[in-house]
Amino acid sequence: MEGKNVIVGASGSVAAIRVPLLVDKIIEKGAKVKVLATDRAKFFLEKERKFADGVEVLDDEKEWLMWEKLGDEVLHIELRRWADAFVIAPLSANTLAKLANGLCDNALTCTARAWDPSKAPLIVAPAMNTVMWEHPLTSRQTNSVETFGVQIVSPTSKKLACGDVGIGSMATPDTIVETLEIELLANSRKKRKTIDSDEVSLEPDGSLKRQTRTAGNS
Ligand SMILES: Cc1cc2nc3c(=O)[nH]c(=O)nc-3n(C[C@H](O)[C@H](O)[C@H](O)COP(=O)(O)O)c2cc1C
Repeated sequence: MEGKNVIVGASGSVAAIRVPLLVDKIIEKGAKVKVLATDRAKFFLEKERKFADGVEVLDDEKEWLMWEKLGDEVLHIELRRWADAFVIAPLSANTLAKLANGLCDNALTCTARAWDPSKAPLIVAPAMNTVMWEHPLTSRQTNSVETFGVQIVSPTSKKLACGDVGIGSMATPDTIVETLEIELLANSRKKRKTIDSDEVSLEPDGSLKRQTRTAGNS
């Protein structure tokens, strides 16, 4: 992941307390990370140890403060341009429902809405109570986001923070990082293939000209 830029989006599951560890593990692999938190995620992040030096934590307040006039940057679009991958971990039931239905009422969901998963990986790691996970709405919504290319890192089964035992615990940071590495690699190969198979056009003078098209996420 050397040289890659990754957004770690955190939504309001208690599993957000594991975000600093996830970020550390992504940085260890050589990537740069920016954290994008929902207001509810911030509640949990503030209870946890701090992020490594230099890790920027972005939120709705930052998104609105940085825009004053036409020509100013729009955070969710700039993030999309900056990043090679977007990992939403944890993904709350609420934010899953928003993603599945196209709602974008905060910086995290706007970034996801402005993201093209066919060009750069969008990976989500749901975390919620077992009954929430097993509710029929959840599979409907996970199936829906998968149809447009979102990669789901399934939750695991254990004693949850609420005391219930069952599926719903966020996948481990190691599993999420492993998925991220696989998806980034697959994406680089896809881009390489696109570049390799670019058209070679015949110029008016009879020479062949290679088009250089890139497949970035912008
Ligand atoms: C202590 C506490 C723990 C919570 N844990 C979860 C959770 O693990 N998963 C989940 O989907 N929602 C959980 N919620 C509910 C969400 O925080 C709530 O639905 C919130 O609106 C999510 O907002 P967001 O998706 O914008 O971050 C929890 C709420 C509280 C008060």
